[in-house]
Amino acid sequence: MTNPSITVQSDLVLERILSIEIVRVTERAAVSAARLRGHGREKDSDQAAVDAMRRELNKLPIDGTVVIGEGELDEAPMLYIGEKVGNKHGPRVDIAVDPLEGTTLCAKNMPGAIATLAMAEAGTLLHAPDVYMEKIAIGPGYPKGVVDLDAPAEENILNLAKAKGVRPQEITALLLDRPRHADLIAGVRKAGGSVALISDGDVAGVIHTADPEHSGIDIYLGTGGAPEGVLAAAALRCIGGQMQCRLVLDTEERRERSLKMGIKDARKRYEIEDMVRGDCLFAATGVTTGAMLKGVRFRGDIIETETVVMRSITGTVRWIRAEHRQLEKFHLD
Ligand code: FBP
Repeated sequence: MTNPSITVQSDLVLERILSIEIVRVTERAAVSAARLRGHGREKDSDQAAVDAMRRELNKLPIDGTVVIGEGELDEAPMLYIGEKVGNKHGPRVDIAVDPLEGTTLCAKNMPGAIATLAMAEAGTLLHAPDVYMEKIAIGPGYPKGVVDLDAPAEENILNLAKAKGVRPQEITALLLDRPRHADLIAGVRKAGGSVALISDGDVAGVIHTADPEHSGIDIYLGTGGAPEGVLAAAALRCIGGQMQCRLVLDTEERRERSLKMGIKDARKRYEIEDMVRGDCLFAATGVTTGAMLKGVRFRGDIIETETVVMRSITGTVRWIRAEHRQLEKFHLD
């Protein structure tokens, strides 16, 4: 069964076994980060997640290249952009990782920290530099272009309400709680919409728009990390929805850096298909319990994890609750 909303060349279809294999990768990263949950040690928990994710990625039957990672070679010793991962016995793939999305959430043991990654056929994921990105996202079922990255927030809320067939008062917009979003917040409220604020974690923030009935979120607005934008686009590619983004390349240094990564048009407006061009897989495991996923639970000799894994070609979404035993071998299998 293929996802009717997705058209990809047959040679761009990933082996489906990989959708189970990548679950191990995010599970291990989540467990390693969760051991330091609430200890106030952002860097250490991030490093633990990075180490675990890298170790697990290197066991996979892939010839992978990290295109969204922990930074460029000079600033990130592990999972840097361009790093080769996998055991080389498998397809050539692009990999986007955020081993700990929400480092502060994990350090403070607040809801919503996740370990996440996306995988796609080589050459099909946007190589985004680690800069900010403007984003707007809504779930599936709306006509194309019902919201517009460049339109005022007020207009987007009114148009979305009309398309949904509800009053603007019934529309909820999710944003990162940042001073830079003051105008967007004012615009949403002016239209009559409700604002929901998160302190961190806009990968999950965007994903919430895909299931407004459960999440209560109709639209995601605002500026967050570009790497997180590509990861969220991969998820929406699997489950449906619309997203428009633009890199914030507001200094010469950022423009030059992005040019080196192949971005010629600094003002380009990206849609999901520009960021994730082929079949892709997306997985996320909860580190701390949030609206999307339960966090890691240490229960005697058992570790419990919850993961969501998606595949664009079929649109399948699997929720995997795992119990891990033989803890001394947890990193060795
Ligand atoms: P980290 O895990 O790297 O701390 O990112 C958390 C996050 O909230 C992302 O979800 C979001 O895209 C970005 O930070 C926003 O950046 P800033 O905190 O600088 O506003």
